Amino acid sequence: MSKTKESIGNYDVINKDFVTRREVLMLGAAAVVGSTLKENTMASPNVATTLTNLQGKVNSYIAKDFKYLLDEKMAGLSNSQIEQHLKLYHAYIAKANDLQSKLKTVSLDGVNPTYAPMRELLLESSYAVNGAIYHELYFNNLTSKESKPNHELTSALEERFGSTDKFIDYLKASGKCMRGWVIVGFNMRASHLDVFGLDTHNMWSPANFVPILALDVYEHAYMIDYGIDRAKYLDAFVKNLNWDIVGKRLNLALKNPTGLESTM
Ligand SMILES: [Fe+2]
Repeated sequence: MSKTKESIGNYDVINKDFVTRREVLMLGAAAVVGSTLKENTMASPNVATTLTNLQGKVNSYIAKDFKYLLDEKMAGLSNSQIEQHLKLYHAYIAKANDLQSKLKTVSLDGVNPTYAPMRELLLESSYAVNGAIYHELYFNNLTSKESKPNHELTSALEERFGSTDKFIDYLKASGKCMRGWVIVGFNMRASHLDVFGLDTHNMWSPANFVPILALDVYEHAYMIDYGIDRAKYLDAFVKNLNWDIVGKRLNLALKNPTGLESTM
């Protein structure tokens, strides 16, 4: 595939010159097989308005393997509960890939903020992707093994909440407030630990916030084991919380801050 490079401001931009046969077929422009994109654009405005700039692999989300949790037999979180939850996680992975695929060829014609297929795909893509990522954070911060906060995490919890025990009380109370998630993370803008509540996967976690602990409070996370008794589930979650992982995530966040410079 031939490519050209041009400069926009200080940035070099690689442009794809040729469309593939598959792309042409998908666009319903069979007559222009072998033509360049530039030529296609001149010959058919539809090509320019339906071919998006998304590049890369379509199936870029590959499910992580959390079956080891079933072997751990966590106290208070049954294998039946975890198995059903993992099925849901796999569905989010599949849907995230599906929506990314659809966005590659979505129509750019007539888009607007009231309704457009592109708008719906953009919105629901963030829902599916966060549904996958938050579940990975969640399953990965569970274990039946004994663990405790490391020095850095203990210090950060004490600084922000007074003590680890007070943080746990705060976490459980937050879990009772929300309908989807409680996410604990390092706030790069304010330079301290923070807790944010989410009623769905794709809302209310601010930018520059690096998650280090994910608590799923959707009913699907505990209904099999506890019915509607969320308090008992929250006790079980804390009992199986992998403090080692949470501490490592904090260390990584502090070492490799992903937030933008707050003054920018
Ligand atoms: Fe979940």
